[in-house]
Amino acid sequence: MTEHSPFPFASSDVEKRDNGRVLTSLDTNGVPDFRADFPGLVTADGAPWHYLDTAATAQKPQVVIDATVRAMGADYATVHRGVYARSADMTLAFEAARVRVARFLNAASTAEIVFVRGATEGINLVANSWGGANLKPGDRILLSCLEHHSNIVPWQLIAERTGAAIDVVPLTPDGKIDLDAMAAMIRPEHKLVALAHVSNVLGSPLDVARAARIAHDAGALLLVDGCQAAPRMKIDVQALGCDFYLFSGHKLYGPTGIGVLWARGDILAAMPPWQGGGSMIDTVTFEKTTYAPAPTRFEAGTPAIVETIGLAAAIDYVEAIGLDAIAAHEASLVRQAREALRGVNSVRLLGPDDACGIVSFVMEGVHPHDIGTILDESGPDGSGVAIRAGHHCAQPLMRHLGVEATARASFGIYNDESDVAALIRGLERVRTIFG
Ligand code: ALA
Repeated sequence: MTEHSPFPFASSDVEKRDNGRVLTSLDTNGVPDFRADFPGLVTADGAPWHYLDTAATAQKPQVVIDATVRAMGADYATVHRGVYARSADMTLAFEAARVRVARFLNAASTAEIVFVRGATEGINLVANSWGGANLKPGDRILLSCLEHHSNIVPWQLIAERTGAAIDVVPLTPDGKIDLDAMAAMIRPEHKLVALAHVSNVLGSPLDVARAARIAHDAGALLLVDGCQAAPRMKIDVQALGCDFYLFSGHKLYGPTGIGVLWARGDILAAMPPWQGGGSMIDTVTFEKTTYAPAPTRFEAGTPAIVETIGLAAAIDYVEAIGLDAIAAHEASLVRQAREALRGVNSVRLLGPDDACGIVSFVMEGVHPHDIGTILDESGPDGSGVAIRAGHHCAQPLMRHLGVEATARASFGIYNDESDVAALIRGLERVRTIFG
């Protein structure tokens, strides 16, 4: 295993980036100790928990938990409708979260930020609103072979309703979306391309700027599922040049039940409402209802107030550390993990060497579920390892890889080389058990 310092961050960097407000715990040497920020990272017995399932959902730092508790307790009130001071304050905090998200994505305006329950709901919103208004028989949608079901099924549903059809971009041998193949197959009938920024199974990164150029040259829009990218790298939607970008709060160290749809202002402004209800209207009569401008038009009903405040705290947390530093940290862990896994008998690594934060593999003669179960059991050092095993909501990709399931280790801010070492120890135990 290559030598590796625990975290490539200096405490002064963390403090400087947040005007001296210390968001992270420091160890006795004054070095950030991110593990200590996450109360979920110990087992019921108090042993360290080697949590390698951040791609499914991230653990929450104490600052997010505290912000959420405050928002649900002492600060709680409705937003956008109360005439009393507490509600006005909560509305300010809620809209300040939208400003934070706009800055986080480098959006041109807060009007481009729609709060949704998660990326799944956001993709369904675009499919129903934009797709329902723009797709017609003969039109085509372009997806890739590695997409998560949430970036496949909404398109199938809207294709059935509108008479559009779906085509699939193949992968390169190392498991990336093949943009040369995409350039060769895209046609004027393709109205929308929907791709993952980072594969949730293989960690494969996408060159979004190039994908956007290919899509736009053919007259199509590009939607990017950023669920696995937003927690792992700096996102600048204007530089990426895509038209829609989505991420979920709970994978970004924030709460569940909150996510973000970013859409280019002119596109969003022209999209019809998807869900009807309170807040999203201008005037309502039984004869005719008119709608509020974006993003309000897309936020029917009382929003996820507490979760949105929690998301803002999560963004503060990751920005104080720095997305570039997080990317470098996870790249180092992926390198270590891939190198170490190559040394485990009968492990076959999947995905590219420059995978972002995620390493998938299979082990000859052992079902990934058995790997996951054995890793979960406490080893001789008293700590368990949590990975995800299964099809990862990407059955077409499993078929392409010729496997039923994979074992997947995914990293976050709080992981270090001790987690990689625990994974490898656990896999040696799996090998011993299975002979
Ligand atoms: N999309 C999440 C995962 O890959 C649930 O685990």
